[in-house]
Amino acid sequence: MKPLEELRSYKKEILDAIPATEEELEKFRILYLGSKNILKPLFAKIKSIPPEERREFGQRINALRQLAEEVYEKYKSEIQKEERMTEITSMDLTRPGYPIKTGARHPVNIVMNKIIDIFSRIGFSVAVDREIEDEWHNFTALNTPDNHPARDMTDTYYIKNDWTHILRSQTSTVQVRVMESAKPPIRVISPGRVYRNETVSSRSHCQFHQVEGLYIDKDVSFVDLKETLLYFAREMYGPDIKIRLRPSYFPFTEPSAEMDVYWGLETEADHRITKGTGWLEIMGCGIVDPNVLENCGIDPDVYSGFAFGMGIERQAMRMFGIHDIRMFFENDIRFLNQFKSVVQ
Ligand code: DAH
Repeated sequence: MKPLEELRSYKKEILDAIPATEEELEKFRILYLGSKNILKPLFAKIKSIPPEERREFGQRINALRQLAEEVYEKYKSEIQKEERMTEITSMDLTRPGYPIKTGARHPVNIVMNKIIDIFSRIGFSVAVDREIEDEWHNFTALNTPDNHPARDMTDTYYIKNDWTHILRSQTSTVQVRVMESAKPPIRVISPGRVYRNETVSSRSHCQFHQVEGLYIDKDVSFVDLKETLLYFAREMYGPDIKIRLRPSYFPFTEPSAEMDVYWGLETEADHRITKGTGWLEIMGCGIVDPNVLENCGIDPDVYSGFAFGMGIERQAMRMFGIHDIRMFFENDIRFLNQFKSVVQ
């Protein structure tokens, strides 16, 4: 075969080669790219080529080698890809997975979710709002006079260098926000965190959680409030739970009351927690003061309503037998892990 013809036939061979396995690929490599590859002897043939064609001949051999390299790389990556695919498809999907560590819900969230669930069953929807509030929404709109002690810096946290914004001290702020933007009938609950300038102890903290409730419609009376709260207590603590309403005072309700649930006096802790009465106060409530409705753009001659606000930590303490409120905020994993099995 003439050297040029020989070149052409190698080119065809290289282009026709389709190595499909690792072995075939290796054979291809040895044949065209190995130390004793078949292209090498071609260089020896250069002497038999007329001098003016030698340069081109040399270039063609090099091009052939380059082609062989390209073909080799192409099939190499294809074969590797295929191997990876067979690895994936041969994975045993029925084998048990590695254990995934699940977290636990925070006890405050467990109780809050339970309360949301109970009220959503009787048509209340959830409204959440900001924790940094202005004085209007936290105090003024809620009929709280300028000189009310709750406004004092010893009770409420003010934003430094601003002094008109505060960390809300109650979720009643959301009542105002909702009434300002929605038309009656209104039925909402508002869970959230609140802040007060309190000395931290086992019984009180500078931050805690509340769930606020608001119901505004025509002809809403104290009877509706009492029935709603009785329904809540039964759902929360069982059908035999006893509740009582004691007259109280809040600037934003008239009349106002506090609701207690009967905790019992079986243990020493029961005496301590209920101050020896057996009753535990869990919320404040009342009929929304007409001034508040007016402040929020609702006509008190047409509409009336009730509102309530309950503390969460105290109920969580009762539910889980926790005797120190600080535990809720320390994020001690040994404490939090104990709530893994509680679903809500
Ligand atoms: N905001 C009150 C508090 O933090 C609780 C409260 C009382 C809320 C009466 C109300 C209410 O909506 O009507 O102590």
